[in-house]
This record gives sequence, C-alpha cells and structure tokens, in this order.
Amino acid sequence: MKIDILTLFPEAFSALNCSILKRAQESGKLEINIINIRDFSLDKHGKCDDYTYGGGAGMLMTPQPIFDAVKSVKKRGSHIVFASPCGEKLSPELAQSLSKKKHLIFICGHYEGIDQRIIDIFKPQEISVGDYVLTGGEIPTMTIIDCLARFVDGVITKESLDEESFSSGGLEYPQYTHPQVFEGLSVPEVLLSGNHAEIAKWRKKESEKRTKERRADLIK
Ligand SMILES: C[S@@+](CC[C@H](N)C(=O)[O-])C[C@H]1O[C@@H](n2cnc3c(N)ncnc32)[C@H](O)[C@@H]1O
Repeated sequence: MKIDILTLFPEAFSALNCSILKRAQESGKLEINIINIRDFSLDKHGKCDDYTYGGGAGMLMTPQPIFDAVKSVKKRGSHIVFASPCGEKLSPELAQSLSKKKHLIFICGHYEGIDQRIIDIFKPQEISVGDYVLTGGEIPTMTIIDCLARFVDGVITKESLDEESFSSGGLEYPQYTHPQVFEGLSVPEVLLSGNHAEIAKWRKKESEKRTKERRADLIK
C-alpha cells in the first residue's frame, strides 16, 4: 500500500519511522511519503494560510497549495482522507476498509482547518479520531495510519488482531508477563496452570467484567 501525506509540518511524522511501522516500510508492505504543502504555494513568501471570510479567531489553510499538492500525487483509484472533527468516527471496521486501498492520500489540516472548497472538489473521506479538537491533522492522521496498518497483510500476525480490545466487541482481559511475583502481586494461578480451556474461560470472564464496568455501551 502506498500512502502520501500532505502536511505543513513534515517533521511531525518521525513517529512513523520506528518499531512496527518502520519494519512494515522496510519490508515493502507500506510505502509512506511525506509531502510539504508549502512547497506548492504560489505566494512569494510561501504563505499557506489566511484570515477567514466572515471573521472569527484564527487562520485557515488556503486552497491553492493543497489543491496543487493533491494534484501532484492523485491518480485513478486514489482514496483521499481528511482528518477532521466533523468526520465519521474512526473504528476498527473503518480502519480495516482503508487497509484494503492501494493508494491513500491524507490531507492534514492545521490552524482553523482548510478551505471548504478543497472538500467540495476532492470529496475526501472525513474521519474523526474522537469528539475533541486537536491543534492539527498530523496526530490524527498518524493515528488513522497506525490503526489501518495493523490490518495490512503481514504487518502484524493475525493472532495479534484476534484477541484485541474491540475485535469481538468488548475490552481485552488483563495480561501478565515475568516475573511471577512483582511488588508482592502474583500472576493469577489459572494462567500458570497450562490448562488452556480454563485460561480461555478466565480470560472471557475477565474481559466481560471489565467491559461491563468500563464500557457498558459496548455490550449489545
Ligand atoms: C484546530 S483543528 C480545526 C477544528 C475546526 N475548526 C472545527 O471546529 O471543527 C485543526 C485541524 O486539526 C485536525 N483535527 C483536530 N481535531 C481532530 C479530530 N478530533 N479528529 C480528526 N482531526 C482533527 C483537523 O485536520 C483540523 O482541520
């Protein structure tokens, strides 16, 4: 899968170059390019934002540099995403559907956001990472990419996907590793028993308990 990210702040994306996403890029499962929108500004000072018509606080990203940046990477079949608090909420199902696309283009808004005409022209899929407002689209875009990358074939094992929170509706059970006793707290006996049926039963029970206590809204 190829991903082009259009942003005014390319330096924000260093987080994509470590751990699992780094390996996914090195093995060719993901190709991620960062494109600086400012490089497309026709303004002699490279300006990419301006006051909003109608007044109001803050600046808005102007359409011309974004338009030309999108045009420079868009091909037939490209799928454009705009991270926005006004979009549909990110979910595992949405991330999985994005993971099937061959070419994704992400537009990162900043300041007060982007000129509506970019949305009207390119009709991007607008995706929100939650009901709160962040300073820019860089972190939400990385969140969406990290989430969808887990569904790209071979990026992580299928087993890792299967028992995660939300994969079967509820939250994950508590997990333990070595040492067996830490600060006087022991790993639950059943996990040391080697009895896989009992372990599965315990995990199911703990998962249901945690979901009921913390996220009753997830219980159908
Ligand atoms: C300060 S926000 C603009 C918020 C916008 N004026 C509004 O009220 O909906 C700047 C940019 O950050 C990104 N952003 C902020 N919060 C977000 C969220 N919850 N989900 C996705 N993107 C978000 C968007 O790209 C947005 O254009």
